[in-house]
Amino acid sequence: MKKALFIGRFQPFHQGHLDALKQISESEVIIGIGSSQYSETDDNPLSFEERKKIIEEKLKNLNLNYKIIGIPDIHEETEWVDHVKKIVGNFDMVYTGNELVQTLFEQKGYVVHGIKKNIDISATEIRTEAKRLFEKLGKTKRTFSYCLGIAPITLEINRLKKKQNAIILAHSYQTTDIMYGVADFIGDSYGLAKIASQHDAQKIIFCSVHFMGETAKILNPEKEVFVPAVAGCSLAESITAEDVRNLKTRYPGIPVVTYVNTSAEVKAESDICCTSSNALKIIESLPDETIIFIPDILMGQNLQKQTKKKLILWNGTCIVHEQFDRQAVDNIRAQFPGTKILAHYECTSSVADAVDMVGSTGDMLKYVKENPAEHYMLITECGITDRVQTEFPDKHIVGSCQLCPYMKQIKLEDVLNALKSPKKEQIIELDKEILEKAKKSLDRMMEISTKAK
Ligand code: 13P
Ligand code: SF4
Repeated sequence: MKKALFIGRFQPFHQGHLDALKQISESEVIIGIGSSQYSETDDNPLSFEERKKIIEEKLKNLNLNYKIIGIPDIHEETEWVDHVKKIVGNFDMVYTGNELVQTLFEQKGYVVHGIKKNIDISATEIRTEAKRLFEKLGKTKRTFSYCLGIAPITLEINRLKKKQNAIILAHSYQTTDIMYGVADFIGDSYGLAKIASQHDAQKIIFCSVHFMGETAKILNPEKEVFVPAVAGCSLAESITAEDVRNLKTRYPGIPVVTYVNTSAEVKAESDICCTSSNALKIIESLPDETIIFIPDILMGQNLQKQTKKKLILWNGTCIVHEQFDRQAVDNIRAQFPGTKILAHYECTSSVADAVDMVGSTGDMLKYVKENPAEHYMLITECGITDRVQTEFPDKHIVGSCQLCPYMKQIKLEDVLNALKSPKKEQIIELDKEILEKAKKSLDRMMEISTKAK
């Protein structure tokens, strides 16, 4: 059973170390890191324990049998190898990115594997990037060492996107590392669709669920659109194109208004689309007195209370928003009088009836920004509460939020991959006929939505 010694400062953490660790095939690895001279100095602001934590976090999914040992400084080069041996015990070969260390071990007869560093990112750049990230991410309790750990990847993403003339769009339910680390625009589904259409970038990386990437592609067929991960949505999965065709047979002549949280095939069967920020406007803009509204039954019930038209509904729900209950709203009202309570359209109507405003994610943020109240309960996904804490630190959140398992699938590594070497499933490609039909319903929505403003 061979044992490898891995010698690296791990400060700042660089991709070369990680890549090297992934390739080590020896059964056991000792990771030796400088524990005194490279700690808490201007050049290396983290302590040994903090660096150990970063490494453990990075290696979580690697299935590597390792232990981390701190190696105190010694100034005599000739004694250095013996010094290390005394501290870490026996090992059979060495991995290192440091040329001097490599020479010293080779002189003592060890086989040494050199590690290639991502040399075009310097320690100073990583530190500056970590500081930039910490200013935002620190507001939602991310530590400086966490920011240092992700800095090499956000730097690489931001460089690549500039080089490729790409823009990164992030829905407000994304994680803060994506929203504040790499996104050019953060917004709701309507706002991001509009940016995708108006921006002159040829390449769009859409950090959100799949249907939003599809929407961007439908509106801009000539642009390249990528999604970092293929993330679904319970509403989009609740209805198929065939279901819509059956509805149209059952209710001939009744127009179909389709919430954007649907597949391109479903949009292609619809008369017009809407988002939660313009649904009521779209419904009211149609001359018909009866309308098929798909697929969100809860949103449909909320809209039904706001319009005189008769809505025929489908039985889809959002697995995130359907979980909030009225009791939580009543409890917050009783405990924190004066709190403004806002809910997304996808909540149940018993929740919607009890709140101060029902709207889209964008409407909720606008309300918080413009309202003088200090306390808010936001009945929606946690990305919105993260945004409020980051962007409006004087406003306080009460009550709890819910995580969307689909939205939270997207990781920084996926964004990097979509820019570097996109996999087939990251590229949005649609059948020409479906795209053209779906485009008509989305174009109609964009037209009415902008006209009404
Ligand atoms: P918004 O249009 O409000 O961004 O909503 C999208 C969504 O998926 C809500 O769950
Ligand atoms: Fe879909 Fe609900 Fe997640 Fe929005 S929050 S993406 S509607 S599952």
